Amino acid sequence: MKKILVTGAFGQIGSELVAYTRKVYGTDNVVASNIIVKNTPKIAEEGPYEIVDVQDPQQIADAVKKYKVDTIIHLAALLSAVGETKPSLAWNVNMGGLFNVLEVAREYNCSVFTPSSIAAFGPSTPAEKTPQDTIQRPTTMYGVTKVAGELLCDYYHKRYGLDTRGVRFPGLISYATLPGGGTTDYAVHIYYDAIRKGSYTSFIDKGTYMDMMYMPDALNSIVMLAEADPSKLIHRNAFNISAMSFEPEQLAASIKKYIPNFVLDYDVDPIRQDIANSWPNSLDDSAARAEWGWSPKYNLDTMTKDMIDKLRIKLDIK
Ligand code: SER
Repeated sequence: MKKILVTGAFGQIGSELVAYTRKVYGTDNVVASNIIVKNTPKIAEEGPYEIVDVQDPQQIADAVKKYKVDTIIHLAALLSAVGETKPSLAWNVNMGGLFNVLEVAREYNCSVFTPSSIAAFGPSTPAEKTPQDTIQRPTTMYGVTKVAGELLCDYYHKRYGLDTRGVRFPGLISYATLPGGGTTDYAVHIYYDAIRKGSYTSFIDKGTYMDMMYMPDALNSIVMLAEADPSKLIHRNAFNISAMSFEPEQLAASIKKYIPNFVLDYDVDPIRQDIANSWPNSLDDSAARAEWGWSPKYNLDTMTKDMIDKLRIKLDIK
């Protein structure tokens, strides 16, 4: 990776990935791109930035040409819960955007990294220690676009020799930028409310296990896989990766170690609960460990400590 274009750069992953990769590869070598938003974040001023709507292939191609991009990290997508309220938009943005990125990458000989998700699995998938290669029959539009995206990336690799790679991210927890419209978002919101109010009302029910990961591990996984020796990769799109699996009560218990009076209650959202129920409880990420040395640094308690420390500073609350 010498010149990187990041799509969806203002999102939860993008905003941190741009800052992280600018440190690793140099500010001028990472081009942030996003659709127009009301309040442009400061990563747009800190280095190269282009307005790119991934539904318009010309805008992607213009940015690739202008900066002589060799790697596209394609993050622009709608998440699971918002995808259920706007399925046709989710299809257009997620599938159309990826197709456009792959076509531009083919024309300009770029590598492509794009994340898949635990949402690429469904109710007929084995829920515990979900294997790398298993049944993928998701029941959400988001999940449908993720499975189709995995297949499309493998197709471009096999058919055109394009270097495509991806991971199946679990729920990502971070303090810098909020996620928007996901099912795992409760595990981010809980920290904000714990600090601001000392309590949280969860839209996901107790006992609902999902895989999760702290953002620094997620950023590291992207760079590790993108830099991995291709001769060692048996899989490409996409690798199971995980750092922890927990349900809301376990997350609350971890928060209570730092905020002893924290109170968790529930007002379950049937749509997001249904989505969560259809996803695995825990992933087997042994293929990622074997093929490119994946290993997370944060567990639930070390993540909780860091989230609370960082959010207290961000929110200016002691
Ligand atoms: N975090 C995502 C979501 O909840 C899963 O990829 O939609």
